Amino acid sequence: MKRVRIGLLGCGTVGGGFVRLVERERSRIRDRYNVELNLARILVRDSSKERPGVDRALLTTSALDVIDRDCDLIVEAIGGVHSAGTFVRRALARKRSVVTANKALLAAAGGELFRAASRNRVSLGFEASVCGGVPVIAALRRGLAGDTIERITGILNGTSNYVLCRMEEGLSFTDAVARAQELGFAERDATLDLSGEDSAQKLRILANVAFGDGEVRKASVCGIGGDVRHVRGTVVRLIAEARRVAGGVELCVEPRRFTYDHPFARVRDEQNAVVIRGRAVGDVWLGGAGAGASPTAAALLSDVLECVRDLT
Ligand SMILES: NC(=O)c1ccc[n+]([C@@H]2O[C@H](COP(=O)([O-])OP(=O)(O)OC[C@H]3O[C@@H](n4cnc5c(N)ncnc54)[C@H](OP(=O)(O)O)[C@@H]3O)[C@@H](O)[C@H]2O)c1
Repeated sequence: MKRVRIGLLGCGTVGGGFVRLVERERSRIRDRYNVELNLARILVRDSSKERPGVDRALLTTSALDVIDRDCDLIVEAIGGVHSAGTFVRRALARKRSVVTANKALLAAAGGELFRAASRNRVSLGFEASVCGGVPVIAALRRGLAGDTIERITGILNGTSNYVLCRMEEGLSFTDAVARAQELGFAERDATLDLSGEDSAQKLRILANVAFGDGEVRKASVCGIGGDVRHVRGTVVRLIAEARRVAGGVELCVEPRRFTYDHPFARVRDEQNAVVIRGRAVGDVWLGGAGAGASPTAAALLSDVLECVRDLT
């Protein structure tokens, strides 16, 4: 039996979901993989907050208490670039594998962090950072590693998709955004989602995995706004696309119109979908929950199990 002690950074939406999922899946993982998972310590900002299902004795407000303790690997779910970056760098330097859901950190410092992981001979798992529970990184890194990827096209942002679906039903852009905010599908400031920048960050991560670092020659980003018009028989989706072109890769995020029979038209509400075109395999479709506590936690836990296979 392999015993694995996990240090968790952050216990909000995603971190809390991870704690509950580890609890729920513990005995299956023990029986199936011969791995005993234990949460050793959990970093939070405010240890007095109510956190249902979380053992208070594990909480700490000291990052070093988590990273420098006797943990086998670190799961980062605090978000942001500054503190998360400092903690992840320290964990990698101390030869701890890290699993993260943080696309903003990868967009800002991914290259440096992957080099640090490789220098220290540890893993940096990031399945949860793009499309939540949809295993698109695993598909690119493993399932499609034998093929040349020509193109990746997807609906990578659940918030804008939710807003576009409400606009199809007749709501104005402003009311649709307000509805998304009420239901927790959009942040109070939804600019990152609606401007296309969130999709662009995720697309860059996918492009690096599929085509290699430094291949991007051109990128254009256009989001959605009140000017999206309803046209009978069609819907609009915010599409992110990375394409291999002569001399490199081009990235584009833009609203595109589809007829009802197109598979992207059937991607509703906060769902995500990705189609990967391989030279040999043709189109491979993936879709599902792109965010939320449980789907994102499931992606983190899958990466944890992947890291555990590498632990001696
Ligand atoms: N939410 C989603 O559906 C989703 C989906 C995919 C990826 N992600 C990514 O997952 C990450 C976490 O998102 P979230 O929605 O779970 O955020 P969240 O609910 O705001 O949770 C953040 C957690 O980190 C803690 N924290 C933040 N800054 C800290 C600091 N400097 N020191 C110590 N603790 C700190 C907070 O502590 P307190 O609880 O004490 O405030 C909280 O527990 C982000 O990178 C996000 O982009 C989220």
